[in-house]
Amino acid sequence: MGMLDGRVVIVTGGAKGIGRAYCRGLAEHGATVVAADLSDAGETADEIMSLGGEAMALRVDVSDAAQTEEMAASAVATYGRIDGLVNNAAFYMAATRSLMEDVSPDEWDLCFAVNVKGTWLCSRAVAPTMKAQQSGKIVNIASMTVNDGTPRFLHYVSSKSAIWGLTRAMARELGPHGIAVNTLTPDYIPHDEQYSSVQPEVDVAIRARRAFSRTQVPEDMVGTLIYLMSPLSDFVTGQNIWVNGGSGFN
Ligand SMILES: NC(=O)c1ccc[n+]([C@@H]2O[C@H](COP(=O)([O-])OP(=O)(O)OC[C@H]3O[C@@H](n4cnc5c(N)ncnc54)[C@H](O)[C@@H]3O)[C@@H](O)[C@H]2O)c1
Repeated sequence: MGMLDGRVVIVTGGAKGIGRAYCRGLAEHGATVVAADLSDAGETADEIMSLGGEAMALRVDVSDAAQTEEMAASAVATYGRIDGLVNNAAFYMAATRSLMEDVSPDEWDLCFAVNVKGTWLCSRAVAPTMKAQQSGKIVNIASMTVNDGTPRFLHYVSSKSAIWGLTRAMARELGPHGIAVNTLTPDYIPHDEQYSSVQPEVDVAIRARRAFSRTQVPEDMVGTLIYLMSPLSDFVTGQNIWVNGGSGFN
């Protein structure tokens, strides 16, 4: 028996990286997983199915309202309900690291369209189903860059700052309907080779300031996500939970 047996959870950005680890972990605890991504999340779904779980992959651009509505409708058509949503998709790796004068206004808009508007649109798309059920768990993903005020990354840091406020306002609005909304804030997780090319020195510096002084991996995030998706957290809403190995004590 898994803690999430019978629960249907959508994970955006579920094709790779931390999102894929969320999908795998949710399935290991019994959830049926909808891996939604701009790119093909078929490998994530296949892996879950090969391990005896239930999953499907969906193509969705979270910044497109109609596509987010279709995502929610497909989940309901296939599995009959939606118990959880992890707003994990983000414009992140492709984001320009540069002085603020050198970020183009179009890139600023794209960053906010995916990271902020996308989180709102996906939540808005699942809300009617969760309201009808009088239950649901929405987990939004922020970033340690908000606390750090990481320089040369203004659009991304600003977009992730918005997640903290969005979570609180949404928690108040959806609370009367039995829906919990929380933020999960990861530290730096250099999970593929792209990271070493973008910011080679960053992981060394970030490891040094942790109580647990090692590189963070996607699987480090999973236990807290399972908690936020499970009945164990039923009176927890509007909160932000850091998972960072004790990097400062926020
Ligand atoms: N990796 C880190 O160091 C780190 C640190 C703090 C926070 N985060 C956050 O964690 C989350 C996952 O990060 P990651 O490193 O796994 O990212 P990643 O870039 O490896 O994966 C992101 C996924 O989101 C998908 N995606 C991007 N735009 C999309 C869109 N418009 N619609 C649907 N899917 C889209 C991508 O296709 C990709 O599969 C993000 O919200 C990120 O901001 C990451």
